Amino acid sequence: MGTLHFPIEKNSQEMDEFEGISKECKQILLSLPRVIGWRTPYLYLFQGFWCQPKEIQAIMKAQTHFQALDSDVMVATVPKSGTTWLKALVFAVVNRNKFDIFSKTHPLLTSNPHDLVPFLEYKVYANNQFPNLLNIPSPRLFSSHVPYNSLPNSIVSSKCKVVYICRNPYDTFVSIWHFLKKIRPTCLGPFSLEEAFDMYCKGHVGYGPYWDHMLKYWEESLKAPEKVMFLKYEDLKSDVSFQLRKLAEFLGYPFTAEEEENGVVDAISKLCSFDQMKDLEVNKKGNSILYFENQGLFRKGEVGDWMNLLSVEMVERLSQIMEQKLDGSGLQFPSINTNN
Ligand code: A3P
Repeated sequence: MGTLHFPIEKNSQEMDEFEGISKECKQILLSLPRVIGWRTPYLYLFQGFWCQPKEIQAIMKAQTHFQALDSDVMVATVPKSGTTWLKALVFAVVNRNKFDIFSKTHPLLTSNPHDLVPFLEYKVYANNQFPNLLNIPSPRLFSSHVPYNSLPNSIVSSKCKVVYICRNPYDTFVSIWHFLKKIRPTCLGPFSLEEAFDMYCKGHVGYGPYWDHMLKYWEESLKAPEKVMFLKYEDLKSDVSFQLRKLAEFLGYPFTAEEEENGVVDAISKLCSFDQMKDLEVNKKGNSILYFENQGLFRKGEVGDWMNLLSVEMVERLSQIMEQKLDGSGLQFPSINTNN
């Protein structure tokens, strides 16, 4: 456990968190509550969630400019909950008439899923040159970590589908922690596991608190199941083919009897599996999200790794928070037996 000393980003002694931020945005940021950040100097409380300055600027642009089409699919996720996996599955499902799943040149064999399903906040609106989104062939696939209430209005008001994934908060924390070791700039100094866990429990983490994030998407999926599909990483791990069939139905691309017979569902599961994706050259090099290395997106891909990192006290603390926050919602993570 202990304290980590981190490599990466730039050699500068200080990190300018407002580099590339407009004057207007900086003014807004300076009026917001802030706490110490994980990979940037500070996280700001923006529209009820904690976020980094560059992402906040991009989210504001997306809220102003993004025009969803009814045929779009938005992959919405809690960070480190299976975003990369879900992007691959969604891409494979909706494009299977265009890209044969059995083909040796399938795009998922040569591109990282984050390049095929771009984030609004890290890619589409991350700088001042917005791509012409109307040139993208339908169905357009996008993604976001933004809480439901802060999605651009047109996503909510159009018939665009939203597929959401979250993960039990214990493994999510552990995944973030290991990821952080790779991406926290040295200039920000050491950050201990205990400090990170305390912040996580307080909801002070990018796009957090995660219980609010999950609950809102959960409620929307109950209110409008044809609009929002709610998935859990654990359910995908336990039966990916079953979830894949539900996903394809939801997206309006159900598998035909012929496809079932030809093993298309299994082929997609395999194409998008952790072992397959982790070993691809394209996922061992390059940076598809900011300066993060693609290989850092594939670590263990397991359920229950929290047992190797969290102390009994940590598990108890997080369990109590989860019990209190999710109480009465019907949202549970049954694979976690916190009494162990
Ligand atoms: P671990 O750190 O627990 O291994 P995200 O894509 O949202 O950043 O989530 C990252 C987590 O998903 C990491 O979890 C990573 O290993 C896991 N992951 C990535 N690709 C996966 C896949 N194809 N199948 C299952 N898990 C995957």
